[in-house]
Amino acid sequence: MKKVLAIYGSPRRKGNTATLLDRAVQGALEAGAEVEKIYLRDLEISPCLEIYGCKELGRCVIQDDFQKIQDQLMACQGLMLASPIFFYTVSAHTKTLMDRCQSLWVKKYWIDKVPYGQWEPKRKGLFISVGATKGRKLFDGTLLTVKYFFDVLDMELWKPLLYRGLDFEGDILKHPEYLQEAYEAGKELALALNES
Ligand SMILES: Cc1cc2nc3c(=O)[nH]c(=O)nc-3n(C[C@H](O)[C@H](O)[C@H](O)COP(=O)(O)O)c2cc1C
Repeated sequence: MKKVLAIYGSPRRKGNTATLLDRAVQGALEAGAEVEKIYLRDLEISPCLEIYGCKELGRCVIQDDFQKIQDQLMACQGLMLASPIFFYTVSAHTKTLMDRCQSLWVKKYWIDKVPYGQWEPKRKGLFISVGATKGRKLFDGTLLTVKYFFDVLDMELWKPLLYRGLDFEGDILKHPEYLQEAYEAGKELALALNES
């Protein structure tokens, strides 16, 4: 059974991205994946302290909830990451997790010496995001951030689901078509993992 990690990156427990991710989780479960959920807002994760304690072993030395997430990130075949847009990037909760994964960047590029840009992604990532405004460039910066975060995890950005014009908690419920899309994406992800 393929393992999928679902990371909830919003401070809102039942916000727009969380509701979308719930639907994606449902789809993945129905397609036979094993899904573990992580709610970043409930965890104690320090920002990266840039001390490079990871230089020897490629493992972050700060002892907090990131340690468990690191193992989960390494063990999954698929990732579903959901974050709202905050100031044209991911939420602080999500960015803190990403920055702590610098230890995995160190492992990949400094310790294992993987040639930059010369690897085949072995895993697949679904990224779900929502912003209040409707600008054409709303997700541009975030997509770059996510692409390079997934690179560290040997993961392709398999599918982004990006929705504009959603602000208040519950706004997503006015768009059953978006929820259906998230459900289908979760299902497709699990099926794609079974094939790979
Ligand atoms: C700190 C903060 C920064 C935000 N920055 C943006 C922004 O740059 N662009 C935008 O369109 N919406 C922005 N928003 C609105 C959120 O993206 C929007 O409310 C979204 O629906 C929240 O998703 P959630 O319910 O999953 O948390 C911001 C909201 C907060 C609280």
